[in-house]
Amino acid sequence: MENKIKRNDFLKSLGLKGASLMAIYCGASALSSCQNESEVAPSGAVDFTLDLTNASYSALNTVGKYIIYNKVVIARVSTTSFAAVTQICSHEGQAQVMYNGSGFSCPAHGATFSITGTRTNNVSSKDIAVYKTTFSNTSLRVFS
Ligand code: FES
Repeated sequence: MENKIKRNDFLKSLGLKGASLMAIYCGASALSSCQNESEVAPSGAVDFTLDLTNASYSALNTVGKYIIYNKVVIARVSTTSFAAVTQICSHEGQAQVMYNGSGFSCPAHGATFSITGTRTNNVSSKDIAVYKTTFSNTSLRVFS
C-alpha cells in the first residue's frame, strides 16, 4: 500500500507549505477526505431510533439485510434480533464495514468480525465498536 503517493507529499510537491498547506487541508471542511479516517467513527454517544415502516429502513424487515445510518451498520440477524456495529473498520479506519449474512466484514483488506464485533480473523488486531438495539413494534433503537 506504500506505492500510493500520500496527500501531504503530493501537496508539498506542488510547492505548498505552511499556511497554504493548512488552508488546503482544513479550509475545505466539506471534503470528507480532509478528516483522519480513524476519527470519523460515530461521534459521541450513539442513540437513534429508526421507524422500519419508513422505506429508507425497510430492508431491516428482512433477515440478512442491513442498512448504514450515521456510520453505524445495522443488520437484521434473525426474526427477533438485530446487530449494530460501527462502519469504521478497526484495521485501518476505512468506513467500509458491511454485513455479510453471518457477521461483519471490511472489503478493504478482508477483516471479518462476528455479530458482536469480535474480530474473527487476523487482519485487524482489534474488535469493532458494537451498539445495543431494542425493537418494539416497528421502532428500532440503536444506542451506546
Ligand atoms: S481497513 Fe478494513 S480491513 Fe483494512
